[in-house]
Amino acid sequence: MQIDKLVALWQGYRQRGVNPTIHPDDHMFKSNLLLDDYEIVGESGLKVIHSVLAMSRKEAVYNVLDFGCGHGRVARYIRAMFPKADLSFSDIDPSCTDFCATQFSGKAVQSTADLSQLTLPHGMDLIWVGSVFTHIDYKRMEILFDKLFQALGRGGILIATFRGRQTYEITKSRPEQTTLYASLLEQYETVGSGYQPYPRSVVQMGMTDWGLSLVSIEKIVALGKRHTNARLIGYSEAGWANVHDVGAWTKL
Ligand SMILES: C[S@@+](CC[C@H](N)C(=O)[O-])C[C@H]1O[C@@H](n2cnc3c(N)ncnc32)[C@H](O)[C@@H]1O
Repeated sequence: MQIDKLVALWQGYRQRGVNPTIHPDDHMFKSNLLLDDYEIVGESGLKVIHSVLAMSRKEAVYNVLDFGCGHGRVARYIRAMFPKADLSFSDIDPSCTDFCATQFSGKAVQSTADLSQLTLPHGMDLIWVGSVFTHIDYKRMEILFDKLFQALGRGGILIATFRGRQTYEITKSRPEQTTLYASLLEQYETVGSGYQPYPRSVVQMGMTDWGLSLVSIEKIVALGKRHTNARLIGYSEAGWANVHDVGAWTKL
């Protein structure tokens, strides 16, 4: 996207500001503890989208899918930057999709626990996936990647976040975490990706198999390499809020 268009998009977002309504069950708000942190992470998602657009050839964004939208930590920023775009919000938890659709003016798209059964709208210009690949094993990452890639229109952009080398290094440096996540770390060291399910008590609405994943840059890049019409247009280690790696692909 041309830089002058990007400047106008950013200025528009700053002038409009974001809808500040917080859902009482917003787990991301609860886990951030401070409104400041929630806002920093939300806006960081928008900065990622903005920087990926700068590297892409896309000149207009008419429709956007926020997959695994939660209660709109990033969705509210996407709406503020693209006031006229058609937005779709997908999640396994209907309270998330309903809230986002109502508050940020869009369409609710119910997701499925079995990702191979997922039906998504097609022809998307932009898909944002913040912190979903971070919670599933590599096999499901491949299934989800393919479903999302299929939902892109030509020239569309998929941006997804992952837990990579930084999370590995931090976990490895803390003895109590090393013990807790011994299996996860060992899988990552052995094959470049790992997954460890959360205890059942932590798993929320509709999720059947949900945990913590780690994946190497090579295996993230490999997700796109399976598609001859996928081009990697960006990779940033810990690029989202200084925690998650970010991968971005366009459909040729
Ligand atoms: C860590 S939260 C991130 C929420 C949001 N993207 C954000 O950054 O605030 C992960 C989200 O993925 C959703 N989720 C879990 N399984 C899912 C599935 N099979 N399909 C779609 N969303 C799912 C959860 O309900 C939750 O809202």
